[in-house]
Amino acid sequence: MSASETGSAAQRLAGQVAVITGTGSGIGRAMAVLFTRQGAAVAAVDLDADRLENLAQQIEAEGGRLATVRVDVTRSEDCKTTVHRVLEDLGRLDILCNNAGIIQRPRCWRSAKRTGITTWL
Ligand SMILES: NC(=O)c1ccc[n+]([C@@H]2O[C@H](COP(=O)([O-])OP(=O)(O)OC[C@H]3O[C@@H](n4cnc5c(N)ncnc54)[C@H](O)[C@@H]3O)[C@@H](O)[C@H]2O)c1
Repeated sequence: MSASETGSAAQRLAGQVAVITGTGSGIGRAMAVLFTRQGAAVAAVDLDADRLENLAQQIEAEGGRLATVRVDVTRSEDCKTTVHRVLEDLGRLDILCNNAGIIQRPRCWRSAKRTGITTWL
């Protein structure tokens, strides 16, 4: 892995706080690792506590800053709780990666709309 990928060069996200949903696996987990390597503090959101713990151990070993939030993003109250916890624990919120989702053809686009930006406000 190159220096810029590991974050040892310029850290493009230094000082930023990112909420990333679905960080227990796949794309969300990869984003959480990349963002922390680029200097962001990440709030890692997922349903699965074991996966979050595994991610937290990796990020801690790398010296990154990560807070885990075990919630269900299909629940509006859980999204609001997440925002409150992020502001309390990490002090600000700059980036939202609304990654967690369920492909449920033919209703996939309706599901995506249901967890749009207004869900988080
Ligand atoms: N991987 C692909 O090829 C692909 C293609 C098109 C779209 N996508 C979309 O990209 C996103 C990520 O895909 P992936 O392959 O990395 O998924 P994945 O299944 O590897 O990981 C999804 C993560 O989201 C978590 N999650 C699921 N529902 C949740 C909920 N309600 N609340 C909180 N966390 C929840 C799961 O626990 C899991 O850790 C999904 O929205 C998926 O639909 C993926």
